[in-house]
Amino acid sequence: MDRIRITGGGPLNGTIPISGAKNATLPLMIASLLTEETLILDNVPHLADVVQLQRILNNHGVDVMLSGKRAHTAENAGQTVKISAANIVDTTAPYELVSKMRASFWVLAPLLARKGEARVSLPGGCAIGTRPVDLLLMAMEKLGVNIEIEAGYVVARAPKGLQGGEINFSKVTVGGTHVALMAAALANGTTVIDNAAREPEVTDVADCLVKMGAKISGIGTSRLVIDGVAKLNGARHRVLPDRIEAGTYAFAVAMTGGDVLLEGARPDLLQSALDVLVEAGVKVTSSNEGIRIQRNGAGIAPVRVTTEPFPGFPTDLQAQLMALMTRAKGTSQITETIFENRFMHVQELARLGARISLDGQMATIEGVDKLKGAPVMATDLRASVSLVIAALAAEGDTYVNRVYHLDRGFERLEEKLGRCGAQIERLSS
Ligand code: UD1
Repeated sequence: MDRIRITGGGPLNGTIPISGAKNATLPLMIASLLTEETLILDNVPHLADVVQLQRILNNHGVDVMLSGKRAHTAENAGQTVKISAANIVDTTAPYELVSKMRASFWVLAPLLARKGEARVSLPGGCAIGTRPVDLLLMAMEKLGVNIEIEAGYVVARAPKGLQGGEINFSKVTVGGTHVALMAAALANGTTVIDNAAREPEVTDVADCLVKMGAKISGIGTSRLVIDGVAKLNGARHRVLPDRIEAGTYAFAVAMTGGDVLLEGARPDLLQSALDVLVEAGVKVTSSNEGIRIQRNGAGIAPVRVTTEPFPGFPTDLQAQLMALMTRAKGTSQITETIFENRFMHVQELARLGARISLDGQMATIEGVDKLKGAPVMATDLRASVSLVIAALAAEGDTYVNRVYHLDRGFERLEEKLGRCGAQIERLSS
């Protein structure tokens, strides 16, 4: 298994291009199942999760064509993916595939919409909490779907087709909103989704569905109204920039000090995280080119932050913020409200010398003067990148094991950081 070695201490200076958003790409690829025509996605990031979803779609008979690199394309350009679900040959999503990536459970909705049935494996356990699918199933039932659980599989049937209905989520759920939107787009009649997730990736999928001929109003708000149509058509859509990747590098620069332009990053997608950086004493400047992050000399001020659904501070940046606060001048508090058990990075940050105590969903971080390199282990995607951030400021060498977590969600991480002066190297074994 590959490892990453980081020798900390130096600042980051230069430009980091921001890739297309993983969390928009996955549901957009799944949305291709809603039409017989071709969906073309631009700015798709090169990530292990994208390849994995391609396998899952192939299993349903979907043709996924990734563009090869042409001579004149910039090396950091995202890829163009052409997806054609003209013939869905299989409505089963097997355990072996779904258990590797939770988001693949979302194929349930388009399979039901196109074929009137789906058999999708329950996703199973996950490192960051129980992450149930009850709300996703509730949404499908509201649209006239009959659901049974058989041998670890959700067996869903809509023999008379999907019917519009009223869906009121008791909790904001990104995945629930994605499946409700996709199913409602092809349902018979009108669907209202209340307490819908407002995450930019949900908006991106809704925008793409509209290009495909869906009738959706209230996009970007917590009340979506969808007038179902009989058919959707092909379309071409550019994936929005990855706000979590941008936020991650912003925290990295805040940690090491330096001056980096996050090229293509959109401040409106991560205002809450930028506000926290400013509060911590970091200089943040936005322009047409992206977001510039600067910290020179000044220390890091402690902050109090609670994770919340968008537009609040994202849970997907919680671990990265905690890494930064390990070096703050004082005591910080971070409360996680989205996922229970999303503190797996705490033990590993402690191995680098961080002082963090946990009380239920609240972490108290006492800033220390120095972190020291050590071998650490990543447990999930965002936790592993928080270890990278801490390592960049630690004295000596840190070895981050289980790098496959990083490859799931961060495109060319070593190269992007390396070009800004980080001493970072992948060691293959
Ligand atoms: C998505 C993101 C993930 C992000 C999360 C929250 C993708 C591929 N993943 O995950 O990176 O951390 O949103 O912003 O886009 N819940 C239920 N029942 C359900 C569904 C969810 O109780 O049926 C709970 C979850 O356990 C969690 C909360 O709702 O506590 C939010 O989860 P949700 O927004 O659904 O997360 P995902 O869509 O899985």
